[in-house]
Amino acid sequence: MSRYIINGGNTLSGKVKISGAKNSALKLIAASILADSRVTLKNVPDIEDVRTMVEVLRTLNVSVVFNSSNNILEIDPSTINSFEAPYELVRKMRASVLVAGPLLAKFGEVKVAIPGGCNIGARQIDIHLKGFEELGAKNFIEHGYINCSIDSKKSMHAGRRKLAGATINLDFPSRGATENLMMAATLAEGKTVINNAAREKEIPDLANFLISMGADIKGAGTDSITIVGVRSLNGSVYSIMPDSIEAGTFITAAGLCGKKVEIEDAIRENMEIFCLKLREAGIELNSTSKNNIVVSRPKKALRPLNISTLPYPGFPTDLQPIIAVPLSIAPGVSIITENVFENRFMYVEELNRMGANIKIEGHHAVINGVKKLSGAPVKAFDLRAGAAMVLAGLVAEGTTEVFDIHHIQRGYERFADKLTGLGADIKVVDD
Ligand code: UD1
Repeated sequence: MSRYIINGGNTLSGKVKISGAKNSALKLIAASILADSRVTLKNVPDIEDVRTMVEVLRTLNVSVVFNSSNNILEIDPSTINSFEAPYELVRKMRASVLVAGPLLAKFGEVKVAIPGGCNIGARQIDIHLKGFEELGAKNFIEHGYINCSIDSKKSMHAGRRKLAGATINLDFPSRGATENLMMAATLAEGKTVINNAAREKEIPDLANFLISMGADIKGAGTDSITIVGVRSLNGSVYSIMPDSIEAGTFITAAGLCGKKVEIEDAIRENMEIFCLKLREAGIELNSTSKNNIVVSRPKKALRPLNISTLPYPGFPTDLQPIIAVPLSIAPGVSIITENVFENRFMYVEELNRMGANIKIEGHHAVINGVKKLSGAPVKAFDLRAGAAMVLAGLVAEGTTEVFDIHHIQRGYERFADKLTGLGADIKVVDD
């Protein structure tokens, strides 16, 4: 088990470069299964979740080579011969279910372990499955696995079982469901329209990748996506977009304890509401180019905020634990309302152990700003909650130990190294 030891109070300065987006990389790796020839993905972050997705592809007998020193992933899906995503991997990373759409489209059949709950909530996949049914698949659950298959009598096209294009109205703009259905529809017979689709910037990134492979997709990034099925998809070379949640994490760190920290590959238009909220709190964000943001700790005290998480373009739930750290030391009362996941305030007790004054009322957190935080041993409950603990440790007085940092390593590339490069005092200790 590894932990971070952080001595708080250092001023951060200098440059940090944001890595490729985790939540795009995982989907593009899954989508590569759809191609008939070699795919090269660039700007792939070297994080645990990417390694898990690589393992999922290897269990399907896809050949994958990850060159982590230059963040290039080579995928050759031509040898794929299995359509089963096993429990050991799906349990480790829920996003493994994103292979279901591509496998169903390619084989007419998929068997994927039911992911179950996770630290931030129940996270159903009913919307994915309902969508597969509307595309002509049948689902049944057996021995902890979901089996989806296309009825062969109705759907043979050129010797292959194919999904049938349909209009799908999502009950909720689920990102995962939008991505799974968009991937499945690329090889379906006819036209699919996904209404009430998720609009996060990773959706057009996935669509652009699929289009580069030969897919016909319009409207990704809006709430209605149209996909006209094609016969096959080719390999392609594609560079993954930068990670706006990592950017938001570094922007917040700089707003807490920075002096002119330049964050490269931070794309403001991908995180507009987050940037607006930080400005409202008194943290100025400047840019010297389209792709960078320069941040310093404000001279005046921070101002409290009201925040409600919502699907894009609302405030992202993934940055909710992160923004709670500056709000915990902003004089006055801030309120955070979590609308996307039911269990995303697990970090609050840990932050309170560092001196914060936060009360949970249902899906609201009521934050009474305190003068300062003080270092303490704390736990990373999940990926973003863990990152929030690190930010708290950077601004706190004294030493903070963050336990269970494997959660953080799932999604942040070289997190401690990047912070050390900016002048933070943070060490990784392996026990
Ligand atoms: C993705 C992100 C995650 C982010 C989340 C919301 C990845 C790998 N993860 O997760 O970091 O926090 O979007 O922006 O990209 N739901 C259902 N039924 C479904 C699908 C979802 O009830 O079939 C519910 C979930 O339980 C959750 C909400 O919808 O409460 C949002 O889920 P979704 O948008 O699907 O998130 P993910 O794609 O799992």
